[in-house]
Amino acid sequence: MVWTRKELIKKYIEFFKKHGHKEIPNASLVPENDPTTLFIGSGMETIVPYLLGEKHPLGKRLVNVQRCIRTTDIEEVGDTYHHTFFEMLGNWSIGDYWKKEAIEMTYEFLTKTLRIPPERLAASCFKGDSNAPKDTESEKTYLELGFPKERIAFLDKKSNFWGPVGTTGPCGPNTEIFYWKLINKPAPKTFNPNDENWLEIGNNVLMEFNKDSKGKFEPLKQKNIDFGGGVERTIATLNNFDDNYLGDMWQPIIKEIEKLSGKSYKGNEKAMRTLADHTKAAVMIIANGVLPSNTGRGYVLRRLLRRAVRHGMRLNIKDFTDKIAKSVFKIYEDYSDLKKNKKEIIKTLKEEEEKFNKTIEKGLKVFDKKVLEWVSNNKKSVKMLSGKDAFLLYQSYGFPLEMIEEEIKSLRKGLLLKVDVKGFKAELSKHQQLSKSTSSQKFKSGLADNSKQTTKLHTATHLLNEALREVLDKDIKQKGSNITPERLRFDFNFPRKLTDEEKKKIEYIVNKKISENLNVTREEMPLKKAIDSGAQSEFGARYPEIVSVYTMGNLSKEICTGPHVENTKELGKFKIIKEESVAAGVRRIKATVGN
Ligand code: ALA
Repeated sequence: MVWTRKELIKKYIEFFKKHGHKEIPNASLVPENDPTTLFIGSGMETIVPYLLGEKHPLGKRLVNVQRCIRTTDIEEVGDTYHHTFFEMLGNWSIGDYWKKEAIEMTYEFLTKTLRIPPERLAASCFKGDSNAPKDTESEKTYLELGFPKERIAFLDKKSNFWGPVGTTGPCGPNTEIFYWKLINKPAPKTFNPNDENWLEIGNNVLMEFNKDSKGKFEPLKQKNIDFGGGVERTIATLNNFDDNYLGDMWQPIIKEIEKLSGKSYKGNEKAMRTLADHTKAAVMIIANGVLPSNTGRGYVLRRLLRRAVRHGMRLNIKDFTDKIAKSVFKIYEDYSDLKKNKKEIIKTLKEEEEKFNKTIEKGLKVFDKKVLEWVSNNKKSVKMLSGKDAFLLYQSYGFPLEMIEEEIKSLRKGLLLKVDVKGFKAELSKHQQLSKSTSSQKFKSGLADNSKQTTKLHTATHLLNEALREVLDKDIKQKGSNITPERLRFDFNFPRKLTDEEKKKIEYIVNKKISENLNVTREEMPLKKAIDSGAQSEFGARYPEIVSVYTMGNLSKEICTGPHVENTKELGKFKIIKEESVAAGVRRIKATVGN
C-alpha cells in the first residue's frame, strides 16, 4: 500500500479525536494580529493565547494539520527533505495531559495506526540545565513502552529545547522520536543522534515556560504539550522513500516539470526540487492574500518566484508558474483559499514571472561582465563583488542578494569570489532611508506581543469597528487588522477617502465609549449562535465551531480570540494618525491610544 497525504491526515485527526481532541481550523499562513512574524511556521503559533493561559472555547485537547512556511533554510532547499511550504501534524494539551500520556499517544499512533515497527524507533530527552532538570520522567515512559535504554539519548538545550518562536513566548524542553530509515539494514542497538540515518519524525514539546522580554524563563500558568510532526517526512517514512519529493504532495509537480522541460528528474533533482518547492510556496502565500513587493512578506514571495525562474532557466523552461500552480491546486483540493483565489493566483504569478523575465537575462550578462572584470583586474586571492555592483544587480535587474550569492557559488570552482554583503547593505539602507521600511524589524520574527499596550489597542480596534459603522455605513466589515505596540491598523470596506469631519466624529465616538467605563466581557458559544446574535466577524475569516465573543457594554459584540482589557477606561485617549487607501474599495485607519 502506498501512503498518501490525505490518508495520513485523516488517520491522524481520527486518532486524536478518538482520544478526546477537538479539531481546530488550519489557519492562514499570515499570522493574525502579529506583526513580528512573517509566516506561520508551526501549529502552536496559532494558539499562543491559550498556551499562555486563556481558556480555549473547544477545550483542553486540540488537534489539527497546519500549513506552514519556513524561510530560514531557503538555501538548503534542493536536498531530499527541506521544504519552504509544508504541513504539520499537531496535537496539544492545554493544561491537560502531560508527558507520560503525550508520549504514549504519539507511540500508539506511530506503531499501531501507522504500523511503524517499534524496533526501528529511538528517542531523545532533555539532559537538564539550570532552567529545567534532566527529563527522567519521559525516559521512564519510553522504557515502559519497551524502548531499550540504549535507544534513549539525553541531549542538551541545542537539540532538546523548543522555542520560543521569536524572542519571547511559550517554550520548554522537548522529546523527539526518531526512525531508522535504512530499509536493508537493521537499526543499530544504540541510538546515535549524529547518525543521519536516524530521522526525526515526531516532537513533543513539554511546554512549561514563558520566556519574557528580559530573557527570563517564567513558569507558565499551566503545563502544555505541543506535538509536531511533518506530513512530508512521515509520508516518506511510511513509504520507505529516501527522498520526500517522491511523496504524492510533490510527484504531480515534478512530473509536470519533467513534461515541460523534456528532462528527467534523475540528474536534475536539485533544480526540479527547488522549482517545485518555491512555486508551491508562492502559490500558497498568494492564496493567503500576499502580493509581491519589496518588503516583508511580499519580498519573501518575490524572492521565491525569482529563484524559481532562475532554476527554470537552468532546466530551459520559461513561463511555467501557472502550469505548476494548476498541479498545486489539484494536490491541495481541500484548501478553500486555493479554490477561491485560483484566478488571482495565476494572474499574480504570471505578472511577476514576466516582470523578472524582462530583466534576468540582461542581469546575468552584467553579472558575467563583472566576473570577467574581477578575474582580470583584481590580483588579490579573495575577490569581492563590490556592494555597489551587487546593488546594481538588485536594483536594476531585480536579483535578490541570495541569488547573487548563488550565482557566485555556481561559478567555476577555484575562483574565490564573494559579495561584499556589508557594502551591499550600506547601499540598500542609503536607498531605503527614503521609503523607511519596516521589513527588517519583521525579519527578526517572534510571537504576538501580548503587552499591555497591544491589549489596549486590541480593545480599541473593536470600538473603532463600531464607530465606523455608526458614522460611515452600517455594512462596514473588517477586512484585516494588525497591531503593534505603537499603533493599531484596521482595514475595512469603504469606497472613498474619509472627510476630516468624519474622522473627528469617529474619534469622538470611540473616546466617548472609552469614557463610559464599559466592562469587557467574554462568552463562549457555537459559531452559528454568535453570528445569529449579531456578533461581528471578519470577512472571509475561518472560525472554529465554538468561538469566544467579546462584548463591550451594549455597544460592541465581536468574535475574537482576544486578549482585551477588562474595562475601556484603561485605554486612554484614542487618536487617528492616518487614513489611506489599500486597495480598490478598501480603506485603512491607523490609530493610537494613550494619554
Ligand atoms: N512546535 C514544535 C515544532 O515545530 C512541535 O517542532
